[in-house]
Amino acid sequence: ISLQTADQVSDKKNFKHYMLKEIYDQPDIAKYWLEKYLIKDLKTDQFQINYSFDTDFLNSIERIDIVACGTSKHSAMVGKFLLEQFSGIPTNVFFASEFRYSPPPLLCNTLTIGVTQSGETADTIAAISMEIKRRSSIGDRSFKPNLIAITNRVESSIGRQIPNIIDISAGIEIGVAATKTFFAQLLSFYGLAIKFAQIKGSQSNENINQLVLELTKLPGLVEELLEKHNESSEKLAHDFFNIKDVIFLGRGINYPIALEGALKLKEISYINAAGYPAGEMKHGPIALLDKKVPVISIATPGQVFDKVISNAQEAKARDAYLIGVAPQCNGTEIFDYLMTIPSTNEWISPLLAIVPLQLLSYHIASHRGLDVDQPRNLAKSVTVE
Ligand code: G6P
Repeated sequence: ISLQTADQVSDKKNFKHYMLKEIYDQPDIAKYWLEKYLIKDLKTDQFQINYSFDTDFLNSIERIDIVACGTSKHSAMVGKFLLEQFSGIPTNVFFASEFRYSPPPLLCNTLTIGVTQSGETADTIAAISMEIKRRSSIGDRSFKPNLIAITNRVESSIGRQIPNIIDISAGIEIGVAATKTFFAQLLSFYGLAIKFAQIKGSQSNENINQLVLELTKLPGLVEELLEKHNESSEKLAHDFFNIKDVIFLGRGINYPIALEGALKLKEISYINAAGYPAGEMKHGPIALLDKKVPVISIATPGQVFDKVISNAQEAKARDAYLIGVAPQCNGTEIFDYLMTIPSTNEWISPLLAIVPLQLLSYHIASHRGLDVDQPRNLAKSVTVE
């Protein structure tokens, strides 16, 4: 598999826009990630994640703070879910622009992770610099600045600040609205969560192997999703390109996917879209609902499936048109329109649920005749505060 490196020029191939081409790069990104980062130890039959971090360093970590902006922050929120629920490490995610002026009180043995695909976002770089400074000024070794960067540009400002890097290896991304780099950032967090779970012993080998097995299925699953949803989301976009407001709902590991679905739509189609944790809908957003406000609900089988369906029911009772991102199964007949995703292990569902949402945003913006790759007022990397 050859993915373009950041210094090569990206080719649009036969796609109308870079964004669509980059959405279609995702199966290859999954293949490349599996080849680069997943190693099977032939002696023990165990899988290892090929990140070159010192085991003692990772073992000493007791808490994690993650700083990021925009789409990168949404990947960090999925990361938080994995690091807490799979690896058992208390984790907080911060907007870099907030963290730099009001960081949390210092706690020892904390790892700070900076996530930025470009490696140049001013707020993220400043938050990391501030953290290095305030931790270095304390003599006590347990407060030392432990840092990891997750980026698509190893030779960037963040790459120069932080020696421990996870290179997401997504190849150059031209579309301003991040798609494939989001997907690759998510994969990086799965790798980190597996690595920590192994070092800390927070999951059995069986659970770890199960998650790895699910990840190995990704290239095929994402390819199927693209095949299934490209045309159908174009048709759906035809009916919805004129809407004014959309609400995205998700829960648990898919709450950040609701936020990312809403952000993609806002960024490129200029439609007012908001993502909420589904259980919060009744505490305010429900007042917005009527038949002119479609609700897109991510409902993946697992711990909170029934709750998400009953939240969707509440929306339907207010005449909202309901679009589900869910497998075809008991409960999902409630949706007026179903963007089907395969019924898999809940842990990997964000990597699947995001794909139809990216396609839908793309087709809505394209139908509106907008400049999908260069949306107004946005820049690929924001190097000013
Ligand atoms: C800009 C872009 C967003 C992006 C954010 C963070 O605001 O318009 O799409 O998510 O920067 O970028 P980064 O390079 O730090 O991931």
